[in-house]
Amino acid sequence: MKTIIEPFRIKSVEPIRMSTPAERAAWLAEAGWNLFRLPSERVVIDLLTDSGTGAMSSEQWAGVLRGDESYAGAPSFFRFARAVEDLTGFTNVLPTHQGRACERILCELLLRGRTTPSGRRPVVPNNAHFDTTRANVEHGGAEALDLLTDAGRTPGLVAPFKGDMDLARLEALLAARADDVPFVMITITCNTNGGQPVSLANLRAVRALCDRFGKPLILDACRFAENAWFVKQREPGQAGRAVRAIVREQFDLADGATISAKKDGLVNTGGILLLRDPELFRRASDLLILTEGYVTYGGLAGRDLEAMAVGLGEVTDDDYLRYRVRSVEFLGERLLAAGVEIVRPPGGHAVYIDAAKLCPHLPAERFPGQAVACALYEVGGVRSCEIGTVMRGEPAPMELVRLAIPRRTYTQSHVEYVVEVVTEVAARAATLPGYEIVEAPPALRHFSARFRPLNAT
Ligand code: F0G
Repeated sequence: MKTIIEPFRIKSVEPIRMSTPAERAAWLAEAGWNLFRLPSERVVIDLLTDSGTGAMSSEQWAGVLRGDESYAGAPSFFRFARAVEDLTGFTNVLPTHQGRACERILCELLLRGRTTPSGRRPVVPNNAHFDTTRANVEHGGAEALDLLTDAGRTPGLVAPFKGDMDLARLEALLAARADDVPFVMITITCNTNGGQPVSLANLRAVRALCDRFGKPLILDACRFAENAWFVKQREPGQAGRAVRAIVREQFDLADGATISAKKDGLVNTGGILLLRDPELFRRASDLLILTEGYVTYGGLAGRDLEAMAVGLGEVTDDDYLRYRVRSVEFLGERLLAAGVEIVRPPGGHAVYIDAAKLCPHLPAERFPGQAVACALYEVGGVRSCEIGTVMRGEPAPMELVRLAIPRRTYTQSHVEYVVEVVTEVAARAATLPGYEIVEAPPALRHFSARFRPLNAT
């Protein structure tokens, strides 16, 4: 059969509250034109993030009941740690409450108080840092350097592995400033430029450079399964391998990993910190206890650990991944057919609208992505996320609006509704107002800033 169906039945449902454009216009003003400030009941289709918003399976809910809440040494922890080891090969496993807790601990371990022989700030290269990763690296006193290839920074260009690291630039950096680089990171899939995958060939080459210069390689592996699926589909010689074998090779190439399990862990909350080096692991465990919790729960409940253990098994299922990636691709194809420019090809977890192309009348300082995101909400109640100058805090290389697809949550008719909303917004794109910021905190401003449309009184 050609039709790829959602490979699950729905056992429990959650109502969506419908609303009108007039209601939403008023709610948007009340929220300071910042979609993060909206109560989610006022959203029709919530594509703000794919993080923690997925539906758990009946097996995961069964695990929730099995959860053991002992403070230390709960069987739930050992089931979780075994599932992580089976999947990744790492034996040093720490649970955390979510991905950024791993980032904070890693940056405190490897960056804080570090001086460089050159007297310059340490620099952490990555294909592209996610915003919390960048903020944690900078908070640790280092520079967060993005080294995507030119293809990765060209939204309209179709290429199989646009998450790849620019190897020439990484090599040049390491050759010139090896002592200033405490570790190298690579994000699979690369969220910032469109959920684009990294090839195994590129990962191996990054590993070889890290070996040559004696640097640890840390994976930001939130979407490790989607990355492996793309490798299986697109990388020469990989089609015959099991997804789990590809996942394992991804992890085998790394010295450590930070994982937000809210993505490919298929859970509502949870994170995983992996470190090969026993001494670093010991120090990370101390830091975990300081702020997250004891090493066998890391700020989570036992039931969360059980849900993760099951989710980490389900996420590498071929039927699931085929449906997952295809449903995102379907949205991308329909938007392209409607004449909307997107980051091509669509990524694993989201479709990213090129707002700069849609609104050429709005310069970066008028926030074209914000303009499109607000219009999507007002027109159809679709909540998206600006990934551009608002999020970056300075003029960004790309002005994108992300439609992130929660896992196993929306059906094809929901996606068709989203296509209709985006098409309607695209038809009026030339008339969308620009925005200015009325108030904003100094860091991570996109979460709480208040805006004003420039035609408003
Ligand atoms: N790294 C990447 C690549 C991410 O996409 C995220 C989160 C994190 C780290 C941090 O994980 O949220 O569990 O602390 N991304 C979410 C998103 C928030 O919407 O893309 P966290």
